[in-house]
Amino acid sequence: MADWNSIKNQPRKSLTALFDQDTDRVGQFSFEQSGILFDFSKTHLDGELISAFQKLSEELAVSDRIQSLLAGETVNPSEGRAAEHSAERGIGDPDSVHMAGLLRSRMAGLIKAIDAGALGEIRHVIHLGIGGSALGPELLLQTLSLGDEKYETAVVSNIDGSALEPVLERFEAARTLLVIASKSFTTAETLLNAQSVMDWMREEGESDPFGRIVALTAKPDKAVEWGIDESRILPFSETIGGRYSLWSSIGFSVALTVGFEVFEDLLAGAAEMDRHFADTPPEQNIPVLAAWCDQFYAQVREYETRAVFVYDERLGLLPDYLQQLEMESNGKSVKLNGEPIDGHSGSITWGGVGTDAQHAVFQLLHQGTHVVPVEFLAVIEPGHSLQEAHHKGLLLNCFGQAAALMAGKTSDDPNRNYPGDRPSTTILLDRLDGKTLGALIAFYEHRTFVNAAMLEINPFDQFGVELGKEMANQLMSGDGNKMDPSTEQLKKRAFPA
Ligand code: F6P
Repeated sequence: MADWNSIKNQPRKSLTALFDQDTDRVGQFSFEQSGILFDFSKTHLDGELISAFQKLSEELAVSDRIQSLLAGETVNPSEGRAAEHSAERGIGDPDSVHMAGLLRSRMAGLIKAIDAGALGEIRHVIHLGIGGSALGPELLLQTLSLGDEKYETAVVSNIDGSALEPVLERFEAARTLLVIASKSFTTAETLLNAQSVMDWMREEGESDPFGRIVALTAKPDKAVEWGIDESRILPFSETIGGRYSLWSSIGFSVALTVGFEVFEDLLAGAAEMDRHFADTPPEQNIPVLAAWCDQFYAQVREYETRAVFVYDERLGLLPDYLQQLEMESNGKSVKLNGEPIDGHSGSITWGGVGTDAQHAVFQLLHQGTHVVPVEFLAVIEPGHSLQEAHHKGLLLNCFGQAAALMAGKTSDDPNRNYPGDRPSTTILLDRLDGKTLGALIAFYEHRTFVNAAMLEINPFDQFGVELGKEMANQLMSGDGNKMDPSTEQLKKRAFPA
């Protein structure tokens, strides 16, 4: 059993004391990679804590696990497979890297053909998927679209018809391409939405809706069975996890909309972060340091949540994206060996957009009894051309909040007292382009992996989502088997017949 005591027994030091002790704290705890500054100086990391984490990480063979991940070894034992999202970026087992390249060329070919009008005059794209098959693509579209794209692309995930209907009202069936994104090609929400889009196409006079469907899947046979022509099926490897799949053909709608070159920049940026992750010693390794902070706050301080606030509307979906990445990966209670984990599972990730969130939830961050480590993200180059005052105000609000959380303010009036010493990390991007975004997302993936390695868990399965699906299916099948009285009451009330 790994010994966390050397970390738990570290003397408690306040952030301001850490700054007073070390005049070069900012220099020592700030790191740059791929046009992104990572400032950990307002966290409680210090030399001693880092040494203690280094020792613990050696005990837990974290570096070996990183090398296994990047070499394409079986790091997902419960499903008996590798986790090869880095191979999509050119880092990994040579055969997998080669295959990813071939599949990407196939995707590029299809995009070229569609651009050239092979499927008619396409102007609208409906991308159907859910979870990893939607969140990544939607985040990329929102972040990288400039507003002058040739195609208008909508991502629809929910089974709620209120998500799909407005898109169908807006789009013209004759000029719509339907993209079905599903690794398993069995996900109920996605397939029902696909059926409804096809019904709509038929109602609008399309005799052969199948002619304008593209499938993105690790189960091409299932897509063929569904009736999709093989030439428009873009497969990807089973070793790419759903929440790690935006780099694969799941990114097709993004590449089609924002351009294949931008998609390639995204992969190149991620590859830079992969190389940093693979080659940098732990005490300088940005995803490793971020995970050590996460573990310090989760296991030692026992803070149950962490919050991500993006001070840039373009990144508005990042907190949602990270919720899936971090909580579906590390929301586990058992270790790789099947034993219960010693501390807490991965923390609860939440967040929002600044400055809006300041006027909504920051009260709790500054004065609540829950301490929430905060991650602030901001971008130096603005995404708009309005007065400079907007952007300056935005960034300075971001920096001001982090400073206030740390400094606090003493008052004789308890209502006006701010305890301070509340930690934050600031991630400052030079600009928001494919390359920087790729590096940023890869940073989060690797940080999530290191957190899993510290917890000794497998971040690549998600059996926890299955039981709810089973029960919903049981209810939908109407097999007559009764559920608990509360569920039966709800069913009866909603469907009285
Ligand atoms: O229900 C969880 C999940 O399996 C996610 O892990 C995945 O991203 C999502 O559903 C969608 O799955 P698929 O891509 O197979 O449709």
